[in-house]
Amino acid sequence: MKKIKIMSVVGARPNFMKIAPFAHAIAAHNQKSDDRGQTTVAGNREPITDNRHQKIEHFLVHTGQHYDKAMSHSFFEALNIPHPDVDLGIGSGSHAEQVGKTMIEFEKVLLEQKPDWVVVVGDVNATCACSITAKKHHVKVAHIEAGLRSFDEKMPEEINRMVTDSLSDLLLTPDQFANENLRREGHSEEQIQFVGNIMIDTLEANRGKAADLDLDQIIRDNLIDPHQPSTCPVKASFTGANNHQLVKDAFSVLTMHRPSNVDEKAVLEPLVRVLIDSVSAELPLVWSVHPRTKKNLQQFGLWEEVLNAENIILINPVGYHEMLKLNMSAKLMLTDSGGLQEECCVLGTPCITMRENTERPVTLVEHGGVSELTGPDPEKIRAAFQRFLSMDCSGHTPELWDGHTAERIVELFCSLVTSRVV
Ligand code: UD1
Ligand code: UDP
Repeated sequence: MKKIKIMSVVGARPNFMKIAPFAHAIAAHNQKSDDRGQTTVAGNREPITDNRHQKIEHFLVHTGQHYDKAMSHSFFEALNIPHPDVDLGIGSGSHAEQVGKTMIEFEKVLLEQKPDWVVVVGDVNATCACSITAKKHHVKVAHIEAGLRSFDEKMPEEINRMVTDSLSDLLLTPDQFANENLRREGHSEEQIQFVGNIMIDTLEANRGKAADLDLDQIIRDNLIDPHQPSTCPVKASFTGANNHQLVKDAFSVLTMHRPSNVDEKAVLEPLVRVLIDSVSAELPLVWSVHPRTKKNLQQFGLWEEVLNAENIILINPVGYHEMLKLNMSAKLMLTDSGGLQEECCVLGTPCITMRENTERPVTLVEHGGVSELTGPDPEKIRAAFQRFLSMDCSGHTPELWDGHTAERIVELFCSLVTSRVV
């Protein structure tokens, strides 16, 4: 029986958590098909002709948009993702440079490999570039995490989402808001397949391992400038004295990298001020610094101030389990990350979402989640922080965020081949 050949694409950090469960589900499916084949031979029965048991050949492309070990390779190791079959080595650049170079390099691989399907995830430049290239060569495209809309076209990811969804043959959605968005845009019920949130597959598969990590070790291993003298007891413990510890529910965590927050000094400077003067004045703040943000803090002359802030603990981007442990242990999260909004929702970590809008409304307090939108407005951040400090949140698990999304996707591929729906 012919194998289905799926080429999937990753490019940047949030893609890795989405592709790991998919790769594992394909491997499990192939193992099951092998086991069935062996039973058949041993039992001397007819060979299997049911396409649902057809094996899947998985070819993994890394575009190389993210390339630092801490932004890329570490996730392959930690999440046991198969080594990419090819790395296009695209690297950093303007949007046009990244998308253009990716299309040129991806086309060569596509023509050589001739997959039946290209699977793209999320909303990064790789997602958009590879879906366009595939469609121009009449290769079917499936989009995992389809239908998310922030309705903010100034956000580069919104353009990637709209382009990718408009081209995809199969729209694999994480929630009912996404289904509605796609229906409104005129997509057919056959195309829209509600499968759940694949990020949560990774969270569920890894929360046990994360729970076992030592908080202080995470900080010590990832601290930026460990020799920085500090009078803050918690910070001092990581910079020499070693007598104090981060205490569960007694610190906040911050990540931020959206261009709308970090690319202009006029926005970033007041944000830094509220973080230093208000947020970290109440609780130690652990800040995992994205490379875009570090570059801009340095360029705007804000880096030293943040580095020297008494109650801010700056760390390099950490691994998946390390961030999960920080999230599970924090009193609250401040972030502009899409993935972290979702993880906070399930873990029940109050989440100050420093954005004006979100493509993930299911995570918001008004829809049962734990997240509040503040944008970069210092007053709103301060007010939300005070509210969340005195609040105990419980987790919210939206429909089908159950850890089995990847299995559903693999089953779907096999059933589509059988019924020739798409
Ligand atoms: C990209 C995605 C964004 C995603 C984010 C996850 C797009 C349009 N944006 O934004 O959706 O939320 O990744 O983290 O695809 N850099 C390094 N090392 C790296 C990678 C980047 O130093 O390994 C620096 C470079 O200076 C680069 C800058 O970070 O110019 C921005 O990287 P880029 O990939 O263009 O965008 P992100 O902000 O990371
Ligand atoms: N993450 C991580 N280490 C960090 C910061 C984030 O492992 O230092 C994880 C986070 O838990 C989530 C994913 O990265 O699983 C989100 O990616 P990112 O914030 O880079 O992109 P976004 O989701 O905003 O597109």
